Amino acid sequence: MEDNLDHIHQQALKDLAALENTDDLQDLSVRYLGRKGILTQFLRNISKLPVAQRPAAGKKANEIKRLLEKAFKVAAEKLESQDQAAEAAIDVSLPGRAVACGALHPITQINQQICDIFSNLGFDIAEGPEVESDYYNFEALNFPKDHPARDMQDTFFITDDIVLRTHTSPNQIRSMEKQSPPVRIIVPGKVYRCDSDLTHTPMFHQVEGLLVDENISFGDLKGILTTFVHQLFDEQTSLRFRPSFFPFTEPSAEVDILCVICRGKGCRVCSHTGWLEILGSGMVHPALYENVGYDADRYTGFAFGMGVDRIAMLKYGIDDIRKFFENDIRFLEQF
Ligand code: PHE
Repeated sequence: MEDNLDHIHQQALKDLAALENTDDLQDLSVRYLGRKGILTQFLRNISKLPVAQRPAAGKKANEIKRLLEKAFKVAAEKLESQDQAAEAAIDVSLPGRAVACGALHPITQINQQICDIFSNLGFDIAEGPEVESDYYNFEALNFPKDHPARDMQDTFFITDDIVLRTHTSPNQIRSMEKQSPPVRIIVPGKVYRCDSDLTHTPMFHQVEGLLVDENISFGDLKGILTTFVHQLFDEQTSLRFRPSFFPFTEPSAEVDILCVICRGKGCRVCSHTGWLEILGSGMVHPALYENVGYDADRYTGFAFGMGVDRIAMLKYGIDDIRKFFENDIRFLEQF
């Protein structure tokens, strides 16, 4: 008899533990403790037991009834709070979750601004391969083999004759091979040099420009680049043309702009010179015309190449170029 009671007790606790909602709890409560419930029946039947067994059986049955009532109460409270939590989880009055939205990378943005400015000035946009032959990257650009100027660029060689392009200038040759003058193109793209520090990464971005026609002078070069800088920065950003050397231009000039941070007073960014270098340029060397079959007596032109990453650093006031390539969303979100 007592085993029987223990069994009922254990079974009830097991059923309780398996419960998932308040409705089932109600059913279970009726099954054990209701008027016709298992335990209630048992209590009723005590009168049929031999007299000697009745007090002990009654005592035990009442005790289990008490324990079960308590267990049901605890279970009811637990289910209740679960229901409340579930209700809170689908609170339809809560504002929606914000969708994380992507944005254009700062370098892509600057690249587009540069391309837009030159498009409006009548330049077409061209592209070329990043894996380039020695011929286009060096030879045709008037870098003879073993010429010390090749050391200006720390080249990644794939084979003796194949390189990762160190600049976008190979596209000067490629575009002139494809068409006869007038040529008016810009070429944005990735370039590669074996170099890495605060202001250099092994891959970076350039935009090449080339204009060839009759009667093109250094004055045209100055005019186009001045217009460009005024549009990309502002009218107050003056330019300085500094004599320089590139094998594929003669004469050559590097272009500095008035420091966008200190406006010429001298600061850390411009190394206290008041000027920032942003591009290389010059009049196309006649040797290139020979290489592409242009009449060097009839045509003249200019070329320029600028570092997009460097311009992005200046425009946004970023001191470490590597930040562009770490893809830290907290950094990229600011642009
Ligand atoms: N290709 C040169 C560089 O990467 C820049 C340049 C382009 C200079 C066109 C002159 C003319 O440094």
